[in-house]
Amino acid sequence: MILLGIETSCDDTAAAVIADGALKSSVVSTQLEHADWGGVVPELASRAHERSIVPVVDRALRDAGVERGDLDAIAVTVGPGLIGSLLVGVSFAKATAMALDIPLVAVNHLDGHLASLFLDEIKPTFPHLNLIVSGGHTQIMKVTAPSESKLLGKTRDDATGEAFDKVGKLLGLPYPGGPEIDRRARNGNPTFHAFPRTRLKGYDMSFSGIKTSVLYHLNAIDESEREAYLHRHIDDLCASFQEAVVDMLVAPVKKAMRDHDVKDLGLVGGVSANSRLREKLTTMVHSIRGRLFVPPMAYCMDNAAMIAMAGYHQLQSGRTAELSVTADPSLVLA
Ligand code: KG4
Ligand code: ZN
Repeated sequence: MILLGIETSCDDTAAAVIADGALKSSVVSTQLEHADWGGVVPELASRAHERSIVPVVDRALRDAGVERGDLDAIAVTVGPGLIGSLLVGVSFAKATAMALDIPLVAVNHLDGHLASLFLDEIKPTFPHLNLIVSGGHTQIMKVTAPSESKLLGKTRDDATGEAFDKVGKLLGLPYPGGPEIDRRARNGNPTFHAFPRTRLKGYDMSFSGIKTSVLYHLNAIDESEREAYLHRHIDDLCASFQEAVVDMLVAPVKKAMRDHDVKDLGLVGGVSANSRLREKLTTMVHSIRGRLFVPPMAYCMDNAAMIAMAGYHQLQSGRTAELSVTADPSLVLA
């Protein structure tokens, strides 16, 4: 069973091939045209997908050593994401499925992230929990079976990556702020300033308060001294901010693992690259005799291998889509 996966929900054009559940190729073309704008520009993103989709798919097929005619199914991200971006992948997938007369599978991007844990040799057992942390999403899922999950908690406002990027901007760091804050925090003092940790009932999270705290902290310093202060303490501020964010993620996950008596935890999405988050989750999981699963870096970021894997799981349980399926930018995973 040879399946082609397509992902175009944001600013990465990606295609991957899976044969009988094993990954054969994965190609990601990351758009560089957004760097100067401090964020993804939707109009530029959809145009870039349009340019890249055919060469990216061709490359994925070539790397896997298969022809178009060998494909048995095609899986595509239908949401959530940017509408103009999603439409490129969805239209391409529909046209291909129609031309080859093969089944189409509609994949929720977040379900793709959950499936990224199954690209590795060692896989978590069911049920397990999964912390999805990216630029657009922050949620704790209970995964009960392949492509079956339940939402336990989510951010009520900013996504974690969004908070990193916004604070990076406040601190004058280049976009995206996340990796830069992580890098600088390694040389900083995490107890330099105690930014408040927001704790909500249940497993929900909130990151808008800490962003405001950083802003107030900077505004409290006399304008004439602010630049020198930032210059002197940028690493400490990064470390203190990061420490607070990580604490706000680890606490509800720990509570959820205890309450649901689950020992395996997955960590996926772009922010899973964060070194301090990995460190603290590893310590927490060990303290409850559990295991932490983090996919290789290439599969933490947006990619099509995870979409193909989620599509493969759905296909195995007979869940295919009609050719009339449409892209849904606000699709939820609940
Ligand atoms: O999942 P992803 O690649 O894309 C989407 O959100 O669609 O995640 C990107 C986010 C950005 O906000 C970026 O700043 C953040 O992940 N990120 C990090 C790190 N690496 C990437 N945040 C904190 N620490 C990092 N090392
Ligand atoms: Zn993503």
